[in-house]
Amino acid sequence: MFELHGRTALVTGAGQGVGAGIAELMARQGAAVAVNDIVAERAEEVAARIREAGGSAYALPFDVTDQGAVAPAVRAFERMVAPVDILVNNAGNGGAEGFRPTRFRDSDPADWQRFADINLFGVMNATRAVLDGMCARRHGRVITIASGAGTQGLNIGVSLYGAAKGGAIAFTRHLAVEHAREGITANSIAVGLIDPASSGRQASATVAMAKAIPVGRLGKPEDIGATCVFLASREAEWITGQTWQVNGGAPTT
Ligand SMILES: NC(=O)c1ccc[n+]([C@@H]2O[C@H](COP(=O)([O-])OP(=O)(O)OC[C@H]3O[C@@H](n4cnc5c(N)ncnc54)[C@H](O)[C@@H]3O)[C@@H](O)[C@H]2O)c1
Repeated sequence: MFELHGRTALVTGAGQGVGAGIAELMARQGAAVAVNDIVAERAEEVAARIREAGGSAYALPFDVTDQGAVAPAVRAFERMVAPVDILVNNAGNGGAEGFRPTRFRDSDPADWQRFADINLFGVMNATRAVLDGMCARRHGRVITIASGAGTQGLNIGVSLYGAAKGGAIAFTRHLAVEHAREGITANSIAVGLIDPASSGRQASATVAMAKAIPVGRLGKPEDIGATCVFLASREAEWITGQTWQVNGGAPTT
């Protein structure tokens, strides 16, 4: 069960953190993985690690927010390797300029666009690049890595991010219904708090937050990777249009 042999997956923003975990688990289940990242060295490093572990992986650097660049990069990969059966829209957060939590009232309007660019338009760009092929082959899996911030109100300065993630969730749900008869499923994962160490960030501030998570620990990239493997598998063909809360039991309303 949950085999991905013979499948090809594209994971965006997979050069570190959650995306790297998703790419690694998908490869372990047998998928050939296109490891995308805007930072080419990161993509190459993760792809090399997967190959060293016996998996099949290719670095595929591009910027998901660059509408003109995404489809040509995906086409070139598909010509060289194989058509993409599974897309994981993982690239997200604050983009290249990072993430400074700010209440909406204090936010700089010049900052609004970049959250939408990566967390919403990046999802659309990558999805559009693989969708025609999935429709033609009558098989596809689209998984959008969203956030609890996209499904609930939080008082931690993430309204811009949450708005874009909420948009990505809604987009993915519509996509699911538009293509349900073509063998394509589309689901979102509202991810909870992941151990920042997996992205090379300081973990100290989150120690107390980890204790408040009902299961008693922060999430790991593998927790999200395992969820993606299931959603990408043949066995999950009746699951579409859903938003799964994967967060160690944290409140979700
Ligand atoms: N880490 C968490 O606690 C958490 C919680 C909820 C949701 N998420 C979501 O999970 C996903 C991954 O989060 P993370 O913390 O592992 O991220 P991260 O910041 O550690 O890694 C993101 C990767 O994406 C790459 N990237 C950035 N902009 C890109 C672009 N325009 N095109 C292609 N690649 C790009 C970066 O170079 C980086 O390697 C994001 O969508 C994030 O919103 C994370």
